[in-house]
Amino acid sequence: MIKKIIAIDGWSACGKSTLAKQLANKLGYVYIDSGAMYRAITLFFLRQNINLSNAAEVLEALRNINIDFRLNTDSQHSDIYLNGENIEDLIRDLSVAGKVSDIAAIAAVRTFAVAQQQKMGNNKGIVMDGRDIGTTVFPNAEIKLFMTADSAIRVERRLKELSPKNPHITMEEVKKNLENRDHLDSTREISPLRKAADAIVLDNTHLTMDEQLEFALRLI
Ligand code: CDP
Repeated sequence: MIKKIIAIDGWSACGKSTLAKQLANKLGYVYIDSGAMYRAITLFFLRQNINLSNAAEVLEALRNINIDFRLNTDSQHSDIYLNGENIEDLIRDLSVAGKVSDIAAIAAVRTFAVAQQQKMGNNKGIVMDGRDIGTTVFPNAEIKLFMTADSAIRVERRLKELSPKNPHITMEEVKKNLENRDHLDSTREISPLRKAADAIVLDNTHLTMDEQLEFALRLI
């Protein structure tokens, strides 16, 4: 079968990465979590205390960032590395989630991330999830999905995901973070979160993981 590019966009915590991993496994494709790249950049900026309104400082910081993905042989998925450090767990922290949408709205940050994402798609056979994959990163992707789910379900799923490593996290905190990011991501000037005109909507509120995979495979 000729290799394709599969672009998955959608709201926060609606199961994009779960579906993307399922598809990559099934099809033998590479999976790239574009959100992890924005989270990695955010972690670097927080650590270096970068002043977001100083364009020169932002550019200089980006020059010092090297991001790559390496296979984790335990999980069989790739982990994200920032300048050689495995930061897969660190970037899921609410301190990163609380800042990432501000940083992802900066033009220089998007130019930096999108260029790397497009390069990763050169050989096709890739599933990438994010906010602007079907609209900006791969506007010619053969398959485009736009995922959504009821907000209460999304909060519940994300809370369940974060709780084991963050025993004190509250439902209210998670809800606020998702709402805030969805608002910032869909109203920013550059590459806002939008359904591409040719994307198919997948609402997985009432779907099991197997059912959502079946939906996507039928489409492919
Ligand atoms: O997993 P979740 O849906 O919560 O978010 P994520 O995919 O890890 O993305 C984190 C943040 O990165 C988003 O809220 C956006 O601000 C930003 N992002 C983006 O701007 N463009 C993308 N293609 C992917 C993520």
